[in-house]
Amino acid sequence: MLSKLIVAMTLRMPRWFVRWVSRRYVAGSTLDDAVRVMQRLQAEDACFTIDVLGEEISSMDEANFFLEEYVRVMNAIVEHNIDANLSIKPTAFGLLIDEVKGFENIESLVRQASEHDMFVRLDMEDHRVTTETIQVVLKLHEKGLTNVGTVLQGRLHRTLEDISDVESELGPMADYRICKGIYLEPEEIAYTSRKDIRKATNDAIKESLVKGAYVGIASHDQAVVDFSLNALDELKMGPGHSDSRSNAGGVRKGKGPGYEFQMLLGVCGPLRRKLAKQGHRTRVYIPYGEMWYEYSIRRLQENPTIGLQVAKAFLMPWSNRP
Ligand code: FDA
Repeated sequence: MLSKLIVAMTLRMPRWFVRWVSRRYVAGSTLDDAVRVMQRLQAEDACFTIDVLGEEISSMDEANFFLEEYVRVMNAIVEHNIDANLSIKPTAFGLLIDEVKGFENIESLVRQASEHDMFVRLDMEDHRVTTETIQVVLKLHEKGLTNVGTVLQGRLHRTLEDISDVESELGPMADYRICKGIYLEPEEIAYTSRKDIRKATNDAIKESLVKGAYVGIASHDQAVVDFSLNALDELKMGPGHSDSRSNAGGVRKGKGPGYEFQMLLGVCGPLRRKLAKQGHRTRVYIPYGEMWYEYSIRRLQENPTIGLQVAKAFLMPWSNRP
């Protein structure tokens, strides 16, 4: 109830207020803003993944904008010598408008990124595109482009099966970000209680580590982080160890020893810095772009609990320092 109330209130707030709140979570409106934020956070031993804000589009012209903007991002990463890769939303490249063209756009970016040995992560959107997003990754690997992976959402019932299917196709080249999943999905296909989502996310993290995949552990939930640290320990993975899993791929440029922790810009900085201090590779997700307002509002509408977390972060700043 409280979350919904916060969302309703935010929708009535002036744009400047939403901008003020979102400043903490969004690097800014321009690529220069994103570069500045990354240069600052480099001092905290972080590496990065960059997200140009925007999602489902209504014309293929918009898809061209995203392709061009990501090429600019890629060039900026190289020019400024930043330890960063790319996170893209497949629907922003046109996947839901024209599957063939959408695929070609993604392929074009992944191919250009491969020339710089740069990784491209396909963010996972809602359940309408789960299968298609995984298929895009498999098809790109089939074409010899191995610098690409996707995200699997703990809350979806299908995730353990997806891990098994992708592992049988890609073997040690499987590379996932595992997160809880931000979209509130129907109970026919997803866990809906906090406890079940956390358990399913932990299971997915463990399963993908056991199966030899590279795993981006993307959570600010202390219980998930603790579970992951234990799982890494059991598998003799962690700071100071090279990846000793017999079913894992070799060392990849810009990656940790079989895993890394990932967090969103502005969220749980102390936990991220603690992990970095312990020697874990930590990656910060850096969203930027003109569409910061639409992005902030859509996130709130999709998942009103974010409203509660944002409000908590402001009213009790000690609970979530950037
Ligand atoms: P949980 O929601 O329980 O949060 C734990 C604590 O973290 C909260 O108590 C609060 O203190 C803090 N917190 C979390 N989010 C906050 C926020 N927005 N503002 C303030 N405090 C916050 N999802 C998806 O569906 N597809 C995707 O591709 C991605 N990609 C992605 C990348 C990265 C790097 C991260 C970290 C997350 C995603 N997600 C995502 C989002 C993810 O699925 C999930 O919704 C959020 O990470 C919140 O879940 P937690 O595991 O952090 O736990």
